[in-house]
Amino acid sequence: PGSALIDSFGRVHNNLRISVTDRCNLRCTYCMPEDVTFLDRGELLTFEEITAFVRVAAGLGVDKVRLTGGEPLMRRDLYKLVRMIADVPGIADIGVTTNGILLAEQASLLFDAGLRRLNVSLDTLDPDRFRVLTRRAGVEKVLAGLGAAKRVGFAPIKVNAVAIRGFAEHDVVPLARYCKENGFELRFIEYMPIGADSWEREKVFFASEILELIGNEVGELVPANTDPSAPALDYAYRDGSGTVGVIASISRPFCRSCNRIRLTADGKLRNCLFALDETDVKGLLRSPSINEQAIRDALKQSVWAKWEGHEINAATFVKPDRTMHAIGG
Ligand code: GTP
Ligand code: 5AD
Ligand code: SF4
Repeated sequence: PGSALIDSFGRVHNNLRISVTDRCNLRCTYCMPEDVTFLDRGELLTFEEITAFVRVAAGLGVDKVRLTGGEPLMRRDLYKLVRMIADVPGIADIGVTTNGILLAEQASLLFDAGLRRLNVSLDTLDPDRFRVLTRRAGVEKVLAGLGAAKRVGFAPIKVNAVAIRGFAEHDVVPLARYCKENGFELRFIEYMPIGADSWEREKVFFASEILELIGNEVGELVPANTDPSAPALDYAYRDGSGTVGVIASISRPFCRSCNRIRLTADGKLRNCLFALDETDVKGLLRSPSINEQAIRDALKQSVWAKWEGHEINAATFVKPDRTMHAIGG
């Protein structure tokens, strides 16, 4: 107690996800609308403010940080922030979740800054379906980014694919083969109601269906050891040729073991991806000087007030005001 971020259900929160920008160079239908008003630059936390926040959070037991967006590589000189956070005492693990479009240009800068854990979103290898899903071109840039990341030495490299019924049937097998050949850890994510589009349960391509398809078409899978607080359930190909995971937020929610808190690009604390309330910490990081005690209190208070879990499966579910791009993936 006292110095740890524990909620009223006993969950310990050591995993901080920081959105560094709400801007994105893609427009994935399940994540954001085509027309968006982005935050003014002055509303974004500076690298110094983000690092100051991480220092306070580290004092409360946070040891794992993941930078998200929008698209984090659109934030100028992101590698500098990686270095600043990596240097905070107590931070043992830093990751970035990116759409990969700018990765080929930045892979070696990010690696040299100390980044090792890289998650790249890629839902299809097919240029036409990529354009439909993301409303932009560029699958070849993502593939080039993945290639560059591998050459530079990133490990692990995870590939995230959102699975929507009507699309994923075509993409599961080619993605699985591609990732197996390249040594990427592929994870399929059940489609969640967090975008501006009209989510329906019928559009969720369920983890069980994905695993069956891969087992039949790509190779036999056996359950692998899984970190209970990680969202993904991991499976290994029986022949040892790699792993595949499923993030089954709908069919098997992992809220009971949730260890995550989030900081938005404009300095709001969120205790859940689906939280309806936020706590401002920008005011405490900014003028006239940083108020560390107030930030500690805000963090503890926000975590303590966390609910048991999302209610996507309940009739009472209410979508947050912000869509995924403005919360942080
Ligand atoms: P590592 O375990 O550090 O590799 O990261 P991760 O898998 O937690 O991070 P990543 O950003 O790759 O997230 C993968 C997917 O999980 C995201 O694309 C989201 O769709 C989903 N996700 C991430 N965080 C949450 C969460 O807190 N709740 C739910 N329900 N889904 C989440
Ligand atoms: N459902 C599931 N995953 C989503 N992501 C974005 N929107 C959704 C959604 N509606 C994922 C992206 C990326 C991560 C940042 O969030 O594909 O992997
Ligand atoms: Fe945690 Fe909320 Fe995600 Fe559930 S939905 S895993 S409680 S952040």
